[in-house]
Amino acid sequence: MQPPLVTCKGVGKTWQTDGAPFVALRDIDLNIARREFVVFLGPSGCGKSTLLYLISGLEQVSSGRIVCGGAEVREPGTDRGLVFQDASLFPWLSVGENITFGLKMQHMPKENRRRVAEEILERVGLSEAIDKRPDQLSGGMRQRVAVGRALALKPEILLLDEPFAALDVQTRAKMQDFLTQVWQQSNVSMVFVTHHIDEAIALADRIVVFTARPGRIKTIIPVDLPRPRDTRSRAFHDLSVHLTDLMRDEVDRAFAEQERVR
Ligand SMILES: Nc1ncnc2c1ncn2[C@@H]1O[C@H](COP(=O)(O)OP(=O)(O)O)[C@@H](O)[C@H]1O
Ligand SMILES: [Mg+2]
Repeated sequence: MQPPLVTCKGVGKTWQTDGAPFVALRDIDLNIARREFVVFLGPSGCGKSTLLYLISGLEQVSSGRIVCGGAEVREPGTDRGLVFQDASLFPWLSVGENITFGLKMQHMPKENRRRVAEEILERVGLSEAIDKRPDQLSGGMRQRVAVGRALALKPEILLLDEPFAALDVQTRAKMQDFLTQVWQQSNVSMVFVTHHIDEAIALADRIVVFTARPGRIKTIIPVDLPRPRDTRSRAFHDLSVHLTDLMRDEVDRAFAEQERVR
């Protein structure tokens, strides 16, 4: 069996705030296989983004270690692509230039960059948009460009932090299909953060359910449903009910915590 792409061993994160130290994550043990689609699910504030940033190398672990592709994670790297809720494209650059911005930083010649942009935009279904500006695109299209920009650097894993949260329900469903296709046609692993139960079931090979703060892994649920996932199937519904029950306790705890802090 292949070794996992990412290993988190005993990972903890304590934020140093002006008051008491703030424990955001504790004792996280998690392996992510190559080509696996993992979803982090949990109530707001449970540390999902924090764990994503630790894997990305944007933030440092307070305890434990994270290994990606055999090397300990200490800083961001092109092997780990990032996509955020807000596409944060460069508004003054064309879509094509946005896609290949990282490659320009790596001094790839202009003609080659154009070719990469064409190839990537075909993969994300936006070939027509290559010379458009970001503000000419819809929210869903901008997120497809953000996924394309992350893919352009040939990452081994994409780390996506609630990338569809700002989209309307219909667009969101389309984007889930889109992301599933991109994933199936590539060799990348995915880590996708959401607090939406149905989104987690639509996407994941495995759903990592977090506890309320301090975030720990409550349980990991494998999703063995065929793709594309039928949101109206009995099995989908049953899993949704099960996850709702699992999450309810944690949401209650998170809520009680917020009331206490206030
Ligand atoms: N840079 C930071 N400094 C201090 N506290 C932070 C920082 N980032 C996040 N937190 C806190 O850590 C907890 C977990 O945050 P986060 O990972 O963003 O949760 P989630 O993504 O699950 O909503 C929250 O209580 C949040 O306020
Ligand atoms: Mg978050």
